[in-house]
Amino acid sequence: MKNPLKKLLSSKRKGKKPAVARKPRRGETLVRAEGIAKGFPGVWEHLILDHINFDVKAGEVHALLGENGAGKTVLANILSGFYSLTKGRIYVKGKPVSIKSPKDALELGIGMVHQEFTLARPLTVTENVALGLSTSNFSFPLSEVEKKLKELSERYGLKVDPKARIEELSAGEQQRVEILKVLYHEPEVLILDEPTSVLTEDEAKSLFSILRAMAKEGRGVVFITHKFEEVFESSDRVTVLRLGKLVGTMKTSKTNRRELVRMMMGGEISLPKKKPAKVGKIALEVKDLHVLGERGVPAVRGISLTVRKGEILGIAGIAGNGQSELVEAITGLREVTKGKVLIFGKDMTNRSPREIADMGMGHIPEERRRIGTAEGMTVAENFIMKDYRRSPFSNRSFLNLPFITQHSKKMISEHNILVPDLWVTETRILSGGNIQRLILARETWWEPRLIVATHPTYGLDLKAVKHTHELFLKLKKKGTATLLVSEDLEEIFSLSDRIAVIFEGKIVGTMDAAKARVHKIGLMMAGSKG
Ligand SMILES: Nc1ncnc2c1ncn2[C@@H]1O[C@H](COP(=O)(O)OP(=O)(O)OP(=O)(O)O)[C@@H](O)[C@H]1O
Ligand SMILES: [Mg+2]
Repeated sequence: MKNPLKKLLSSKRKGKKPAVARKPRRGETLVRAEGIAKGFPGVWEHLILDHINFDVKAGEVHALLGENGAGKTVLANILSGFYSLTKGRIYVKGKPVSIKSPKDALELGIGMVHQEFTLARPLTVTENVALGLSTSNFSFPLSEVEKKLKELSERYGLKVDPKARIEELSAGEQQRVEILKVLYHEPEVLILDEPTSVLTEDEAKSLFSILRAMAKEGRGVVFITHKFEEVFESSDRVTVLRLGKLVGTMKTSKTNRRELVRMMMGGEISLPKKKPAKVGKIALEVKDLHVLGERGVPAVRGISLTVRKGEILGIAGIAGNGQSELVEAITGLREVTKGKVLIFGKDMTNRSPREIADMGMGHIPEERRRIGTAEGMTVAENFIMKDYRRSPFSNRSFLNLPFITQHSKKMISEHNILVPDLWVTETRILSGGNIQRLILARETWWEPRLIVATHPTYGLDLKAVKHTHELFLKLKKKGTATLLVSEDLEEIFSLSDRIAVIFEGKIVGTMDAAKARVHKIGLMMAGSKG
């Protein structure tokens, strides 16, 4: 049996042939996009994609690179039927096609895994996959969907329990579900939008070996990323976009990091070096904290820690070890069942998020779309979400529009955010990295005395990462205390003065960053005593 997956699934297709049904030859161009132009008239004056050529071959892994707002997600959305194109042509295996919906794309063998999760959180894995099937298929008994899911997950090593509810799963597991959901349709081309931003290094490694295996079977795989290591470790070709224009497509083996950085943003970017901390009084203190997780099971189990003025404490840990619940408890979003949270010496345990923020705390949350912003509101409204009730933003009855405009414009220019119209643009249409910049700007412009940040550089391009690191280090110098939660050890090491490792709801070790070793921290994150 050459391709058991195909056989397995085709038995269910009952003669419904995809529009271009023929097994591709290795190296054959599966999808070719020619002269793709995309504009959003009335929103942007310029084209968001300016006559792009792009192609995907059978058997290749193709990396798509570009700065925040370059148009990567829009291009992926066009190929997979989520956006229409303004101009241009798409060919599937040499034949011109018209892709009007994601369903069309799937029938043509093109599937996409989105940058942000799209799963229904209260439903199970199986139910989520069943939801994604067309109505005729929806009559499938769930047991059949589950059986097929098990087979797929075994075949690709995408381990996940079909009966688990999405809200119980870690980010890495949710990512696998998103992939399985698309694989269920047996795509010949699989596009993944920043699939590793929420994964640990090990999870990312295993994802890439899965993608390799898919390419080996003759599929074409496209992945969007900001990480150069991933391009060199895992791709055969790479395409670079810059502000909607195609800069070039190359064989990965024929290029190098320096050339890619130059193509993406004009020149090498080096991250700032941290200076030793001059610490002051305790700003944040957590004492023997206990917090329950989603399902009422203990997630934080007796954590104590302190962060002093002028210091950055990094919390290193693999997602799902209680760090999200710890942050939620500190910021007032989740109930503390036992223990205390002291902010500048004041007991703030179980106080409201607003009361806690009013103590002078900036919060950069893990989920930028669900918690960090109100997506349907304008960019200006999002900027003032936390300040609109105070002067000079308002005088209690009226908003001070000129001031808000001036203030927002300053943030847009300082953080280099791509926004067409402050008072009209809904935050929803900003690119992922630009939303992250908006949150960073809003939470730091007032130089807070305390910052609690989770993955602050998630989805940012290298230039913006540099900008963010500089900002954190500048605030530290001015005396801000920062609690930094991240799975990205590189980030933890380049910013933190001390590093605490969290594992199964407990801090299993705290050390001076200068003395800490990546290898040892990595082992502790995985549960070894170190
Ligand atoms: N529905 C929309 N309406 C108007 N503009 C949009 C829409 N969707 C995307 N854009 C704009 O298109 C540009 C490119 O966005 P896109 O999401 O493709 O960027 P990206 O390269 O994926 O960036 P990032 O790395 O930040 O995810 C952005 O300026 C964005 O605001
Ligand atoms: Mg994007």
